[in-house]
Amino acid sequence: MDLKGPVLGIESSCDETAAAVLAPDGTIMAEAVFSQTEDHARFGGVVPELAARAHLSHLPGLVAGVMERAGVAPGDLGGVAATSGPGLIGGLIVGASFGKGMALSHGLSFVAVNHLEAHALTPRLPGLLPGGAVFPYLLLLLSGGHCQCVAVEGLGRYRRLGTTLDDAVGEAFDKAAKLLGLPWPGGPHLERLAAGGDAARVPLPRPLLGRAGCDFSFSGLKTAVAQAVAKGVAAPADIAASFQASVAAVVADRARHALAMAPGATALVVSGGVAANSGVRAALMAVAAAAGLPMVAPPIRLCTDNAVMVAWAGIERLRAGLTDPWDHAPRPRWPLDELTPPT
Ligand code: KG4
Ligand code: ZN
Repeated sequence: MDLKGPVLGIESSCDETAAAVLAPDGTIMAEAVFSQTEDHARFGGVVPELAARAHLSHLPGLVAGVMERAGVAPGDLGGVAATSGPGLIGGLIVGASFGKGMALSHGLSFVAVNHLEAHALTPRLPGLLPGGAVFPYLLLLLSGGHCQCVAVEGLGRYRRLGTTLDDAVGEAFDKAAKLLGLPWPGGPHLERLAAGGDAARVPLPRPLLGRAGCDFSFSGLKTAVAQAVAKGVAAPADIAASFQASVAAVVADRARHALAMAPGATALVVSGGVAANSGVRAALMAVAAAAGLPMVAPPIRLCTDNAVMVAWAGIERLRAGLTDPWDHAPRPRWPLDELTPPT
């Protein structure tokens, strides 16, 4: 289906409020992200009710801002796409209701976007790779809330190959960082501390390394960090370095297994906040190189939560003739493999 105009994307599933306007070919016309990190930092994690209220107060201004900078009037849009799950229900209700209201009042199509599908389709955005990533590819989603290996076989066709049995990888970084006395969110702080440490000083476990499949587990590693800190076995920098080396080794091992489970994959795509970690990145690059595949990591602002990916998922769905009804209810849990491909 041809799109009659640009698409507005809205993201509000966690603690980033974001809006973006993309031309029908995927060109980014305007984008904005308001990160609520400071609102939540003193609580050491995202407080759902505070997040919902913050989305409510920031979203209208963000949307007005991107529409103005894109030079697009609401009636000229080709559709509105809003994240409708999975995520924190309060924020999902705010974003999806706002998007539906805007679409309904201007006679536009509405797309209820699955946040994970938006991450999964990001490497297909024109401009990141010549021609965009080609199906099928393997996606490693490594964020604070998600940790999974997904075979992306087509629009709406996803096979989850493995996931975490306990904490997400970003959550593991945040918990280890907290044990080391670092501020939340701790991933980037831990990486900086690790840069001055010696990973060989502290032996830490590498959970599930070498096991069949590509599931993850990080709670044992976190416990080991807690014990190392409590016993004062080494300098915090050494513990941080060892933790990061352990995560990188485990993630690389899981990625190797996942690639074997996704024959025909044209690329190894890495997304989510942890894709910013240089140790993890280097380990995954080696895995991709050994498999003779390119490793694609979108620029970090497109790896972390944003609305460009939501608008793009909307464009892919609208092009395939897929829209959602006004009574589509936001879903706090919405696994990727429950999506239906276009017929
Ligand atoms: O994708 P993201 O921005 O948000 C969601 O979780 O949805 O990911 C944030 C996570 C946090 O856990 C943060 O600590 C982690 O990504 N992170 C990192 C780094 N930068 C962000 N972890 C390790 N090293 C980093 N450089
Ligand atoms: Zn996300």
